[in-house]
Amino acid sequence: QDELKRAVGQAAADYVAAHAPQGAVLGVGTGSTANCFIDAIAPFKDRFRGAVSSSEASTVRLRSHGFAVLDLNDVNEIPVYVDGADEVNDRLHMVKGGGGALTREKIVAAVASTFVCIADASKLVPVMGKFPLPVEVIPMARAYVARELTKLGGEPRLREGFVTDNGNVILDVHGLSIDDPVGLEARINQIVGVVTNGLFAARGADLLLLGTPGGVVQHLP
Ligand code: A5P
Repeated sequence: QDELKRAVGQAAADYVAAHAPQGAVLGVGTGSTANCFIDAIAPFKDRFRGAVSSSEASTVRLRSHGFAVLDLNDVNEIPVYVDGADEVNDRLHMVKGGGGALTREKIVAAVASTFVCIADASKLVPVMGKFPLPVEVIPMARAYVARELTKLGGEPRLREGFVTDNGNVILDVHGLSIDDPVGLEARINQIVGVVTNGLFAARGADLLLLGTPGGVVQHLP
């Protein structure tokens, strides 16, 4: 799987090098697959003004390669955002947030013109939900939000010992079969106290680079 992650990281770097204009700002996701992308794009760094990062962890890695990491508020346009996923379906809806960076990821993705999802073949599923859905919650609302998520048919569990980059907690919702990703994303976001949920469906990916034993395969929504 590490080899597949490296292959898609390299494929995404090639895609970005070919498609992002000179001086562009890159959007960079979080996780082990996104790390492969960061390492693969590093040799091209002088072609970019810098990067907007979706987590403290990615910021450290980008800086170690000499990338300028920019404040999103100083950036008007991000042509391409590259990030991994915990699950993705054939419409390129995703579950994200296994690493807990979902809110910043969703913000950077919202600004980006093109979302390139990179994943190994194990992440492509017909119906999402086997991977517990992460929900970032304001700490004082934790118990209330958990009760509301239970009413939706899920089994929320607090991610023990984990605080997000934004100072909040994560409820991982087990036992969901996500037949309507767009509807469920909106429904969970309506619960007071929820900051974001890990469904990226209203704004899914525009291109999936999937690492398979036979090579990297491109999927469109
Ligand atoms: C981080 O919060 C997540 O959204 C990641 O994008 C996701 O967990 C994928 O991580 P890996 O590439 O490590 O599987």
